[in-house]
Amino acid sequence: MNECVFIILGATGDLTKRKLIPAIYKLIKNKKIEKFAIIGVASSPTDINTIIENSKEFISEKKIDINVINSLKNNSYYYRLNFYNTSEYQDLKKLIEQVELKHSLVCNKIFYFATLPEHFKILTENLAKHKIVEKHESTHQCSKCKHPWSRIVYEKPFGKDLKSAKEINKCISKLFYEKQIYRIDHYLGKELVGDIAIARFTNTIFEPLWNNKYIESVNITLSEKIGIEGRGKFYDEYGAIKDIIQNHALQILALIAMEQPKTLTAQDVRDVKSKVFKKVKIEKTTLGQYEGYTQEQNVNPESKTETFAAIKLYINNKRWKNVPFFIKTGKFLDKKESLITITFKQIKCLLPEHCPTDSNKLIIKIEPDEGFYLELNAKVPGRTYQTTPVIMNFCHSCLFGPNTPAAYENLLYDVINGDQFAFVRSDEIELSWKIVEQIDKSKLKLYKYRKGSTGVN
Ligand code: BG6
Repeated sequence: MNECVFIILGATGDLTKRKLIPAIYKLIKNKKIEKFAIIGVASSPTDINTIIENSKEFISEKKIDINVINSLKNNSYYYRLNFYNTSEYQDLKKLIEQVELKHSLVCNKIFYFATLPEHFKILTENLAKHKIVEKHESTHQCSKCKHPWSRIVYEKPFGKDLKSAKEINKCISKLFYEKQIYRIDHYLGKELVGDIAIARFTNTIFEPLWNNKYIESVNITLSEKIGIEGRGKFYDEYGAIKDIIQNHALQILALIAMEQPKTLTAQDVRDVKSKVFKKVKIEKTTLGQYEGYTQEQNVNPESKTETFAAIKLYINNKRWKNVPFFIKTGKFLDKKESLITITFKQIKCLLPEHCPTDSNKLIIKIEPDEGFYLELNAKVPGRTYQTTPVIMNFCHSCLFGPNTPAAYENLLYDVINGDQFAFVRSDEIELSWKIVEQIDKSKLKLYKYRKGSTGVN
């Protein structure tokens, strides 16, 4: 039976209302968790019912199940904590114990750090110091259950640069086992991102072609129609490279480019992903900022932060030598689209005329229209040598229905089950920071682009 207490640190933030509460709602509704309690923790004065009420509009259901909402409310608590005041942690500990007792939940805990990374260290140290989270590998014995666990989830971005990421890693690795640590990247919880490794290594047709002999280029596009959504303070400090490329885009890149792991399990997959990161060399970077960005709330009027970035990189190993990888991401672009395009090399033309100009493409659409799309050349009907591009598709929602779990639901479920496959290991985090630190922004021009355009070309 799945049961646990969720302790959400940073419970008044956007992430809690937009993603975490809706994900827990779905876990309850879909009976993936039978017994639970939530303790929201943050520094502002509020109450848990307000947090739950505010999250209702983000629950993607036509009709919200009032029983689940009531169950959420009846099992949730709020604790106001100044993260930097050590004397306030003792009462948090007491509250957790009381809640556990009241709901007969003496075993498992998820500590979710939904805060900015600058608080990760102090929070971790204080939770450990007050023995609120303890270092153990699910072997701890207690009177009511055999294998209780405490798992700690760190939201992205993990650090604000390589130096801070190393400091956080150093701090948390002293206090916990890596097995207890879940560095989240919600793209890894998306169905089609999860499908990359599965498709590559459970089908015979991909691996023989998955190299520089047959692949011309790889494009990863993560474009967004929305802007910075009131997150001026955060965004202005981070920008597109740190907000999207260091994590989401590079994780996708690693899944596409990695060698075959020994097994499709967390440890082996993380090993091959980090080998990719070691070989990445950025060749070219283009940065843009949408018009009007510097007038956004909490943004420096002189800001040079990029809201658009396009990168060309190479992976210097045998498989990918000379294959360019292009990553593009931006805010306020013409459409919301997350996709990977693998363009294959042109084949030698054997037709007497009308040689096809289109090469084969495998498009993995993360969203919208989730699925795999394979672009081939086929014959135009009739007695002709002419070809036309056609698409063979695997439309995810047509096959599995529209209600597949959202990323955070998948990932929280993985944490409950102790599966780290879709989470990022310490070395991967540091290597990916190293990659983006190859970019020296001070040497690059920042182009302006119009909202609703395709960004900088
Ligand atoms: C988050 C970024 O990690 O991902 C946001 O901080 C961005 O700026 C979001 O909007 C995009 O996620 P999704 O799932 O909407 O593509």
